[in-house]
Amino acid sequence: MLLHVKGVLTPDQVATCRAKLSAASWVDGRATAGEQSARAKRNLQVPEESDVARELGDLILGSLGRNPPFVSAALPLRVFPPLFNRYDVGQAFDTHVDNAIRFAGPVRFRTDISCTLFLTDPADYDGGELIVEDAYGEHAVKLPAGDLILYPASSLHRVAPITRGARWSSFFWAQSMVRSDERRTLLHDLDNTIQALSLTVGQADPQVVALAGTYNNLLRMWAEV
Ligand code: NI
Repeated sequence: MLLHVKGVLTPDQVATCRAKLSAASWVDGRATAGEQSARAKRNLQVPEESDVARELGDLILGSLGRNPPFVSAALPLRVFPPLFNRYDVGQAFDTHVDNAIRFAGPVRFRTDISCTLFLTDPADYDGGELIVEDAYGEHAVKLPAGDLILYPASSLHRVAPITRGARWSSFFWAQSMVRSDERRTLLHDLDNTIQALSLTVGQADPQVVALAGTYNNLLRMWAEV
């Protein structure tokens, strides 16, 4: 599933991120790329271990934990500490698939879901779309600052070249309790239906209770925790 999660950060939080990132030291983005993707990648990043990455990463993780659409879609077991990148004019990231396994310090985890949180107003740059391929074709994504796109980490994707301005964003991966994108999508659809139905008929309605039971039984069957 390709899901647009709105308002992960408030405009004030976006401004805070941008102010701190503008004072950060940026390095070549190939530092975190695998051997194959290093050839495709032309951008700048804030070093993973820097104080600013950690501080802003904690701000983002705190907001995500309080974001029901993100939690429902990702069913996160672990979220990798957010990283920060920047594409200036002429920079891009050619088609690639993200590494399957990542290390956060000594912790090793599987990347099931990739996320990009946009930190630049789309009016401030041209190009720079995140283009994700799935069974239905290519999807070009450029979102308001503070919004996030979530997609399967197994997808082929790229970032189109910047032709004006600069695109700043945070990116990170999650290991989900449910490894299969199809199963996560089904659970997310069912959860949305339950939420919508409970607004009209109430949470205590027997059919809402029965559907919630089905949701939990599917999650019990599929979750790796
Ligand atoms: Ni990628």
